[in-house]
Amino acid sequence: MPPLQLLPAFSKPLTPPSALLQWNRKPQLSGPTPRVAVITSGKGGVGKTTTTANIGLSLARLGFSVVAIDADVGLRNLDLLLGLENRVNYTALEVLNGDCRLDQALVRDKRWSHFELLCISKPRSKLPLGFGSKALTWLVDALKTRTSSPPPEFILIDCPAGIDAGFITAIAPANEALLITTPDITSLRDADRVTGLLECDGIRDIKMIVNRVRTDMIKGEDMMSVLDVQEMLGLPLLGVIPEDTEVIRSTNRGYPLVLNKPPTLAGLAFEQAAWRLVEQDTMQAVVVEEQPKRGFFSFFGG
Ligand SMILES: Nc1ncnc2c1ncn2[C@@H]1O[C@H](COP(=O)(O)OP(=O)(O)O)[C@@H](O)[C@H]1O
Ligand SMILES: [Mg+2]
Repeated sequence: MPPLQLLPAFSKPLTPPSALLQWNRKPQLSGPTPRVAVITSGKGGVGKTTTTANIGLSLARLGFSVVAIDADVGLRNLDLLLGLENRVNYTALEVLNGDCRLDQALVRDKRWSHFELLCISKPRSKLPLGFGSKALTWLVDALKTRTSSPPPEFILIDCPAGIDAGFITAIAPANEALLITTPDITSLRDADRVTGLLECDGIRDIKMIVNRVRTDMIKGEDMMSVLDVQEMLGLPLLGVIPEDTEVIRSTNRGYPLVLNKPPTLAGLAFEQAAWRLVEQDTMQAVVVEEQPKRGFFSFFGG
């Protein structure tokens, strides 16, 4: 059996599995708040919105206040994933037009009151002329300085696919980025291109989440391993999310995975990624053993 092998770029020793799930303590918030993170990928359909919903709600469950902004104007669906679609009465456009206040456009989740959703516009509308980087940055600044309630500790921006105007707008207010990729070559190429664009925009704190990973396919050498992905992109790893049919089920129910009881594999992986995000920590990719002896923790790394 091959020994566990760490990437040379990561010299930290493996954290013992028992230390991975420290549910009885709140993670230590690192860095100045509000932390403004864009969730991006380049390629569409790789899990940006799923990640925004699940990491956002994980953070809220951990007691942090979160505003998730759905900046995917054309294909708005974060509200659906969160089951909040019937409660979106106003959008950011009405705020910018002076038709309502910012707090009126924020939809507070009834399950986790620390969590609020802000949609840019009505579903299926085009990115309105005049709505760009400046407008989104103004909205984020308004959230940071609001007095109606305490400013959020995390602002998560769900980015549209592609690298055109919607992408440029979504990354403008962010200080950090979560790059979502799946272990396939098209997604990786787009992720690499997006990394370059983020760096050009001055966003240096970029961490990646590898989504829809299947250990059975990696073992059969039909899928790239997380180590391969990391070697290709050279980015610190925030999380590894397995392919999980529960994700699709929860999407259709409008009930994010991390709220599931009992927890699912992908739900746990999102929660762990949220912990790392709070503490600005990273994990190490490990070689998938042929006959895993340590259950799924060997797959997630430490
Ligand atoms: N880990 C996963 N396992 C199974 N299905 C997933 C996983 N992550 C995302 N999906 C599915 O992939 C599709 C695209 O996800 P989505 O989050 O909307 O992507 P994006 O926002 O990048 O376009 C959705 O149907 C979602 O349920
Ligand atoms: Mg999306």
